Amino acid sequence: MPAQKDTILAISSSPRRHGNSELLLQFFVRALEKKGLNVSSIRVNDLNIRPCQACDSCAKTGECILKDDMQSIYPRVAAARAMVLASPIYFGTLSGQLKIFIDRFQCWWQAKYQLKKPKVTLEMGKLGYFISVGAMKKKEYCEDALKIAKIYYHNINYHYYGSLCYRGIDEKGAILKKPDALQEAYTVGELFAEEILSRKSNA
Ligand SMILES: Cc1cc2nc3c(=O)[nH]c(=O)nc-3n(C[C@H](O)[C@H](O)[C@H](O)COP(=O)(O)O)c2cc1C
Repeated sequence: MPAQKDTILAISSSPRRHGNSELLLQFFVRALEKKGLNVSSIRVNDLNIRPCQACDSCAKTGECILKDDMQSIYPRVAAARAMVLASPIYFGTLSGQLKIFIDRFQCWWQAKYQLKKPKVTLEMGKLGYFISVGAMKKKEYCEDALKIAKIYYHNINYHYYGSLCYRGIDEKGAILKKPDALQEAYTVGELFAEEILSRKSNA
């Protein structure tokens, strides 16, 4: 889909298609669409992307030299009004798929901090949301993942807006037995949509 058609990016990072985090994301997205927003879905596991090689070429140009699927992602993130990331908790943090995706924004970090030419500015008012699901009941199991999502949004000049973290959910699709969780994802999706719509479009 061309960049100008994207309004909101819904980024699922579990390798499980229709896994728990992706299902929550789908309920969240349903609320955005009901409010008339255009949502594009991306499954990170389906992208052909390499991890950042720390080659530092981007320190001079602000661009990544790796010619893979990230090249079509950058303009979409630059054009979107908002983004929602969804991740399972793996070893107390984000999925590896999402961490690779995030690390590939090192070129945006360089563009912002070294070259003083950010790809997105805070004044554009772009918003970021984070959804995570983990098997363990302890609250601490979500905290590191959320911290990384916040650092990501900060570095790419998206305003972090909020998060949902569900714990004690393990088997694929187990979240479907938690109607309250699905309803909450829909409700916070509505609030997120209202916040996006209250801001001037910059996409
Ligand atoms: C490699 C791997 C590591 C995991 N590590 C954790 C963990 O540290 N904490 C936790 O709460 N759940 C952990 N889990 C369980 C998943 O977070 C859980 O099954 C979740 O519901 C998966 O979401 P998904 O269906 O969206 O992939 C792990 C699962 C896998 C496959």
